[in-house]
Amino acid sequence: MTRILTRGDLLTLLDPSACLDALRDGFARDAGGAAVEGQRIRTDLPFPGTATALLPGLLPGVEAYTVKVNAKFPAATPALRGVICLHDGADGELLALLDSATITAWRTGLAAALGTHVLASPGSDVVGVVGAGAQADLVVTGLRRLRPLRDLVVHDLSPERAAAFAARHGGGVAGSAAEVAARAGIVVLATWSRAPLLDLPDVRPGAHLTTLGVDEPGKQELSPALLRAAGVLAVDDRPLAAAMGVLAATGLPAGAAHATLGELLRGDHPGRTGPDQITVYGPVGLPWQDLALSLLAWREAGRRGVGAEIDLLA
Ligand SMILES: NC(=O)c1ccc[n+]([C@@H]2O[C@H](COP(=O)([O-])OP(=O)(O)OC[C@H]3O[C@@H](n4cnc5c(N)ncnc54)[C@H](O)[C@@H]3O)[C@@H](O)[C@H]2O)c1
Repeated sequence: MTRILTRGDLLTLLDPSACLDALRDGFARDAGGAAVEGQRIRTDLPFPGTATALLPGLLPGVEAYTVKVNAKFPAATPALRGVICLHDGADGELLALLDSATITAWRTGLAAALGTHVLASPGSDVVGVVGAGAQADLVVTGLRRLRPLRDLVVHDLSPERAAAFAARHGGGVAGSAAEVAARAGIVVLATWSRAPLLDLPDVRPGAHLTTLGVDEPGKQELSPALLRAAGVLAVDDRPLAAAMGVLAATGLPAGAAHATLGELLRGDHPGRTGPDQITVYGPVGLPWQDLALSLLAWREAGRRGVGAEIDLLA
């Protein structure tokens, strides 16, 4: 039988703290690793969006895997739609079909919260958001579980989206990305931008920046000067960052990343070493993160009887 887990089902099943634990554990154990990174397929479409597939999501010691298929249509709401197939590793049985918009936002946003928290100054308690969308929502949700946040300031091309985000999370609206960076010690960018939104002079000494929107060739949120000035520039995966992430946008090689999130969480890299250092985290998102959260949701759904079961072979 295959369990169908909708957005509503997933929101009742997923717990941010349990998801943070699963993601922290995966990064600390280097769950993906280059050997099992698998394939990331992206193609343009004769429509205003792209089709992407990530496969397989694998975790050491887990006899299951995921295949994720996403539509990315920046002007749509939600912008990401698709499905994650969770398969049994023993015989390929399709255990679950999960709403990918929800799992993707949770795994991206909560993993980004870990990267943000580990690099930001311990006392930074004002978070700025540029791009008030699905991914940023979960970064703030995760960050609140990791450190106290005194204030939030948000900017979006859509004033309505910015206002709704500020109302949801408690905080105010800013008129530009530069205004956000002037007011916040932690800045999270999660947009569809193809040009830098922040340059070095915009950023406060000691600021931390998490750039999530740079996960495909051609996308950019931070200027090359800002990235080069970072005392710690961290990524989730060096080759992917150089091929299509924050390094690619600046023409930097894989070796230009000072650390990975795994190295930071394992203590293999010291992370921030001074209060005035600028730090940057720029992940592209890894397939094992989809498996980690899909498994949590599927197991919990089985325990609680959540989600319809269908027999696709009937
Ligand atoms: N790094 C990763 O692991 C990862 C994973 C999933 C999605 N993403 C990327 O994150 C980005 C955001 O995804 P989402 O699902 O939150 O999208 P979304 O459409 O829900 O939110 C994006 C928001 O950014 C705003 N925006 C777009 N361009 C802007 C600009 N130049 N200045 C200010 N605001 C702007 C939009 O109005 C929208 O409200 C996308 O680029 C997506 O591809 C990254």
